[in-house]
Amino acid sequence: MSLRIALTKGRLEKQTVELFEKMGLDCDELINKGRRLILKVNDYEVVLAKAADVITYVEHGVCDIGIVGRDTIVENGKSFYEMMDLNLGKCDFALATKKGTDFFDGFNTKRIASKYPNVTKAYFESRGMDVKIIKIEGSVELAPLLNLADGIVDIVETGTTLKENGLEVVEKIMPISARVIVNMASMKLRRDEIDEFLEKLGNVIPKGE
Ligand code: PRP
Repeated sequence: MSLRIALTKGRLEKQTVELFEKMGLDCDELINKGRRLILKVNDYEVVLAKAADVITYVEHGVCDIGIVGRDTIVENGKSFYEMMDLNLGKCDFALATKKGTDFFDGFNTKRIASKYPNVTKAYFESRGMDVKIIKIEGSVELAPLLNLADGIVDIVETGTTLKENGLEVVEKIMPISARVIVNMASMKLRRDEIDEFLEKLGNVIPKGE
């Protein structure tokens, strides 16, 4: 049976495919995938999924390996091995608010919108601050603009989305990049194949700053 690798579609997809090409893998099917979700890449079977589902598939062992952002790992992950930092998809978790406002001013309980409620909760707990967290599914920047929230916890890459919507970073929370995760049982049962894949991948990852 082929080793099955789950890739995060969207944001990380193009950069991951570029890495696979550098590894010498034939990515034709992956590039010309149309609407297909399971693709053959040399001896591997590649599955394209949303970030949180990459973790679910790897945790359940239906995929041996996953490539997913640390943001999703910190928010959702627990039972798998995190094996490698791919040094791509780099961004930060940050607390942001409307430009020119003092987020920490006043005594009212702050309302924070985020796609990442667990990360948000842990961050404010570490600051000893009680906040009300509002879960949003995307374009979280809207929440403070519509006065639903006093601030957001989200990923910031170039900062363009914040800037173009009159928001600014209050504090960076943690750096993020794409990681390789491995199912715990696969690690025991298919160690040689996994090591071979990781070694080839390790040789082509971009150098960090
Ligand atoms: C992410 C994030 C920000 C934006 C940050 O959203 O939630 O909105 O990218 O990138 P920037 O700093 O380079 O502007 P994404 O594009 O994943 O879409 P979503 O919010 O709809 O999930």
